[in-house]
Amino acid sequence: MAIISDNEGGVSFPRSSQKNGRNNRNPVIKSESIEYDNTFENSIRPKDFDGYIGQSALKETLKITLEAAKLREKPLDHMLFYGPPGLGKTTIAGVIASQMGVDIKITSAPALERPRDIIGILMSLKGGEILFIDEIHRLNKVAEEILYPAMEDFTLDMTMGKSQTAKTIRVPLPKFTLIGATTKAGELSSPLRDRFGMVHRLEFYTIEELAQVVKRTAKILEIDIDDKGAAAIARRSRGTPRIANRLVKRVSDFAIVKYDGKINEKVANDSLDILKIDEFGLDNTDRALLSLIIDKYDGGPVGVETIAAALSEDVRTIEDVCEPYLLQAGLLQRTPRGRKVSPEGYRHLGLLAPAEQQTLF
Ligand code: ADE
Repeated sequence: MAIISDNEGGVSFPRSSQKNGRNNRNPVIKSESIEYDNTFENSIRPKDFDGYIGQSALKETLKITLEAAKLREKPLDHMLFYGPPGLGKTTIAGVIASQMGVDIKITSAPALERPRDIIGILMSLKGGEILFIDEIHRLNKVAEEILYPAMEDFTLDMTMGKSQTAKTIRVPLPKFTLIGATTKAGELSSPLRDRFGMVHRLEFYTIEELAQVVKRTAKILEIDIDDKGAAAIARRSRGTPRIANRLVKRVSDFAIVKYDGKINEKVANDSLDILKIDEFGLDNTDRALLSLIIDKYDGGPVGVETIAAALSEDVRTIEDVCEPYLLQAGLLQRTPRGRKVSPEGYRHLGLLAPAEQQTLF
């Protein structure tokens, strides 16, 4: 239940939605707790299912779900998307909104610190609109409890005033759809998880899918690219379209400045070598992580906090950004006692795995 009360025991109204200036180019609204994203990434996001490459199982399910909601003239069920960062959770939410012809308000859990942050957004929603909350596993308990009746009954339960004189009122909300995204579905409380009608895990992309993402982005950037050039960038994109898109941009810069403005296999490989992105897509931090475990901790196991401290990185960056792909690529293993470099991890750095070293002697 949301407690809206100022120090005098009076009512403090949630932050007014009128402060939120609507932006016509983009259905994202700006406020302290609603993020405005006008980056390169946002400008190339596909708006329909045809433009959205990969995640075919998800797309097929969504097409049916959206069609059914339109036929029934009902809002979509609340949805939870989870998986490593950069796989297109925000992008698919944008596609859903544009296919339903509704606005989407994008925020993230750390921006919803105070009760009035979430209340303000909920009260600013219009019927059918989509509220997208990124990193939803980081939502605090109070915000979560405000969300329960909002998700279930489309109401806000608010207590106004203090103790004996407190009054509870139910404020109806328009029927909206919450789309939550998280890299850590396991950290979501079960009452919150249970309130999503659809829960879907996004998968890493294949090289072929990433090559399509690369070509699509190159076309938007008006850069010439051939199939082998696209495949070369795709191979080094760690299964992640966000990385593929960034690499296209970086390689385009090289193509324009150092070559004839076109991307082929040689231009892609040479540029990515200069950027120190290796054939597996690992960058300096990834390689430093593997080397650290091998050199200082005999290949592991070693705790993630120790790794983060030694690399002067945040634990969250190690866990959410570096590790998912290293684990998926089989270069790193997670054990109950910490992280271990796999034999493939040793070989990737040009070293012999411990078992191979023993047979050598
Ligand atoms: N950008 C991010 N994800 C994408 C996808 N799946 N398809 C096309 N562009 C994307």
